[in-house]
Formats: sequence, C-alpha cells, structure tokens
Amino acid sequence: MSSPKRKSSYSDPADHGPAKKSKPATTTSADSDSAETPPPSSTAPDSLINPHTALAYWAATSPTVSEILGGYPQVSRVDLQGSRNFLAKLRRVSSHHPPGKKLRRVVDCGAGIGRITEGLLARVAEVVDIVEPVPGFTEALRGREGVGQIWNVGLEAWFPEREAGMGGRYDLVWNQWCLGQLTDAQLVAYLRRLPKVLSEGGWIVVKENMSNDVLGEDVFDEEDSSVTRTDAKFRRLFVEEAGLKLVSTELQKGMPKDLYPVRTYALQPR
Ligand SMILES: C[S@@+](CC[C@H](N)C(=O)[O-])C[C@H]1O[C@@H](n2cnc3c(N)ncnc32)[C@H](O)[C@@H]1O
Repeated sequence: MSSPKRKSSYSDPADHGPAKKSKPATTTSADSDSAETPPPSSTAPDSLINPHTALAYWAATSPTVSEILGGYPQVSRVDLQGSRNFLAKLRRVSSHHPPGKKLRRVVDCGAGIGRITEGLLARVAEVVDIVEPVPGFTEALRGREGVGQIWNVGLEAWFPEREAGMGGRYDLVWNQWCLGQLTDAQLVAYLRRLPKVLSEGGWIVVKENMSNDVLGEDVFDEEDSSVTRTDAKFRRLFVEEAGLKLVSTELQKGMPKDLYPVRTYALQPR
C-alpha cells in the first residue's frame, strides 16, 4: 500500500508474529505452513495496478491523518522529524540552497491532505504547490497561506513544464507514499520530466516503503492497487532508467518493527 503498512507475513520468513491485518501479497513467496511452493509468477506486480481501483480507494478514504496513513497516525511525527533532518543535511552541503534562507518554491506530490505540506514544506519554503488526484483531500488547502498551485491529477498525468500556472522552477519536489500508484514505466517517464522544472541544485526526494519480499520482488497490494518496490528496483529506475544521480539515501529510524521499512532518497539530474 502507498502508506505505512504492515509487512506481509508471507514475505518475511523471520516474521512469525500473530495474524496480520494486511492481506498477503498474491505474487510473492509461499506460506511457511504450506508444504507446496506456488509456481513463480511471471506477472510483473506493477502490471496489476488499476488506476480506477486506486482512485476509488483513495476517494473513499476520510481526509484524516489516521486514514491517510493506513491507520498508523503515530508514525507521522517520527516521519516528519526524519524528513526535516534529512533535508537539513542536504542543505548543509548545498551551495545553491544552503540553510538559513527559505526555499523559493517546492511541490508536494501525491500530497493527500497536506500532512507534509503542513508539517515540513510550508516551514522551509515560501510557496508549496500541490499535486493530488483526489480533490476532496485538497479542498481545505486552497487559499491557505504559502500554498500555491493545486493540481488535482495523478503524477502520471502531471506535466509541469507545460503548465501555464507554473510559477517558476522547483527547489524541491517531494514524493512520499504515493509512487507505488504508478507503474514502473509511468514512474520513469515522470522522473524524466522533472529535471526541466528543477532549479539549479534542486532535489527530487522520494520516501517510500521498501518491499521485504524474500525473493526480492516488488509486492502488489490489491486494496489500493499499488506496488511496494524493493530498494534495488528503486535504484535501478532512478539511476539506470531515469538517468538521475542518487546524492543521498537513508532508512527512516524509529518506524514500528511490524511495518515495512521506509527509505528516503535524494536525487538530482546528472
Ligand atoms: C498514503 S497517501 C500519502 C499522502 C502524503 N504523501 C502523505 O505522506 O501524507 C497516498 C496518496 O497518493 C495519492 N495518489 C493516488 N494515486 C496517485 C497518483 N496516480 N499520483 C499521485 N498520487 C496519487 C492518494 O490520493 C493519496 O493522497
């Protein structure tokens, strides 16, 4: 799921805890109680993504931090603190965007109800634009001080370089717990568009769950029709396919042990 989520009990052989709330992924490893090993699936997990199912899921989600975070509102505080520290470290070694001055313009992608806009981006930037396909999530953000353009589209359909409303290049493009809604090809195409709208020295940040599948596969979640990727897959898509440079990455500390690990990446054009 594109939100904090319990690891699949089918994916982690070390995990013999109580029954998990989440459904086991259909495309991954075997049930440890079963004598039979299922045949390997040749279906790419991201090919199962259905944007209509995904949008129906999110449109039916209440606009609260708890619901947006899959029932784990307690992770928000540690997540935001980790993100503030990560960004501060990036800025400390930046000649273009050093600490001490607000970033000019940033964008919160797959923003939901603006949890990150409010808890991080609006504090470090003069203007925060928003991309979020569910209009109901962004209603309360319209007209709020520091919030600029709001685009109610999915990232696969967001072409910022063509937008008349673009108010200039971005110092930071923040993507969190939403890129699992895009297929690999959509994600690469989206990332390839971003360098054109980044300021010099600007960053693309990606913060997502990491698949812990024993076979090293991405995991499809039918509930919100999303895919949880492996660290190796993300790096391949970022560097080899989208042609970006990985400038920093770290695991989010302090996440509950029964949830997927969360990793943050900072990327720049090569
Ligand atoms: C788990 S929420 C995360 C929201 C926010 N990034 C946060 O961390 O608080 C996932 C968000 O992704 C949005 N989403 C769904 N499909 C998307 C798409 N194709 N492109 C961008 N965002 C999408 C959902 O509407 C939802 O707001």
